[in-house]
Amino acid sequence: MDNLYSTLIHQTFNFPQEDFEVIDNELYFNKIPLMQIIKQYGTPLRITYLPKITHQIQKARRLFNVAMAKTDYKGNYHYCYCTKSSHFSFVLDEVLKNKAHLETSSAFDIPIIKELYRKNKLSKDTYIICNGYKRNTYKHNIIELINEGFNVIPVLDHLDEIEYYKKHGKVDVINVGIRISTEEEPSFAFYTSRLGVRNSEIIKLYQEKIKADARFKLKLLHFFINTGIKDTIYYWTELNKCLNIYKELKAVCPELDSLNIGGGMPIRTSLGFEYDYEYMIEEIVAQIKLFCTEHEIDEPHIFTEFGSYTVGESGASLYSVIDQKQQNDRETWYMIDSSFITTLPDTWGINQRFILLAVNHWNKPYIPVNLGGLTCDSMDYYNTEAHTNQVFLPVLPAANKTPLYIGFFHTGAYQEALSGYGGTQHCLIPAPKHVLIDIDEEGEFTTRLFAKEQSHKSMMKILGY
Ligand SMILES: Cc1ncc(COP(=O)(O)O)c(C=O)c1O
Repeated sequence: MDNLYSTLIHQTFNFPQEDFEVIDNELYFNKIPLMQIIKQYGTPLRITYLPKITHQIQKARRLFNVAMAKTDYKGNYHYCYCTKSSHFSFVLDEVLKNKAHLETSSAFDIPIIKELYRKNKLSKDTYIICNGYKRNTYKHNIIELINEGFNVIPVLDHLDEIEYYKKHGKVDVINVGIRISTEEEPSFAFYTSRLGVRNSEIIKLYQEKIKADARFKLKLLHFFINTGIKDTIYYWTELNKCLNIYKELKAVCPELDSLNIGGGMPIRTSLGFEYDYEYMIEEIVAQIKLFCTEHEIDEPHIFTEFGSYTVGESGASLYSVIDQKQQNDRETWYMIDSSFITTLPDTWGINQRFILLAVNHWNKPYIPVNLGGLTCDSMDYYNTEAHTNQVFLPVLPAANKTPLYIGFFHTGAYQEALSGYGGTQHCLIPAPKHVLIDIDEEGEFTTRLFAKEQSHKSMMKILGY
């Protein structure tokens, strides 16, 4: 038994695994030699491995289609990508290559949709599911899309939302959905989600405001269970409640034919992560099928709008350890060349853990460390992992050797959206360089610089200098 970092990882986890392997004491992510990328671009560095997005979409489609075939399910499956998890053009390009549909949440999503259409990346058959609480600009942009013939389903989040579409809609048929306001987990700070329409008002909304206008067709019932798709009593109970609402609505609204089960498909945030995607998807499809058979209603088409699942595992953030500080006898600080608060805000805001691994020096002994960011905020640190209350990393090499590099993996969703990409951030820490990695026709990887490290000039401009 030795105390090498490599031994620690191999003994703690089933390693190597899906996206990670080590060759000559250096880490490969999806077979990409990270040291080569770091030598070329330096750190801090944000990378996106684009083929992972395609992989995820195809995997979910395959699992839903197999589950549907097994149960002789009559409806179809529609994979939508929830744009708010990452609005970057390279993400949308990859998503749309796979003919996925889109879910929006903001007025400013709609110009993006129009631009993608102008570039022939999506067609007027692509479903655009419009969620969220909508102010007039969002509603205006939505109805403009509808009037231009796009395949839009605004999901009513509010009892009066439809009035705007009634007033400004110029086409003969306008499809809409309704979002059910779900009950939160018992441990949550409140009982019922602020999003969507309360259960007791759904039928009334349909009867009084949708059915009454022949142009409007209620096609889709939407729900999002806040904890995500998990094999818990809470999840299955909520799913059942939503199916009951679907049944009641279907009895008065025969044209209702789709169920949108939202996002929340988990991703791997620890090397110890175990989640049986196949089982969960088969169980969801089987439960919907069983419910429909028992109540003699047609199985609905199933929509999902996975955000983290689509894009999360494509991303990684790489840093150098630039210094070691010994602040007492027991606590060792490794200082990174960026900040957790500004580049991985979920680690600070919701205590999100990611997969953390050394990129090099796997043949060195490991020690417990606290990782410190460069801002002066005392909360800018990372010192626990999903599986343990400590962080272990290799000891630092001598000053004349290659520094220690570390990577946080599966960071592709929400981080830039939360930190305000390209803005001014805590202690004016710049947004890191961003590199896109793809695989060419010969199977070789290619890299492309998407963005340079943010400059002081861009920040000074924002600040009015
Ligand atoms: C309505 C809706 N759909 C989908 C998503 C995507 O969730 P996730 O990224 O967990 O898949 C969200 C996230 O907040 C959401 O609010």
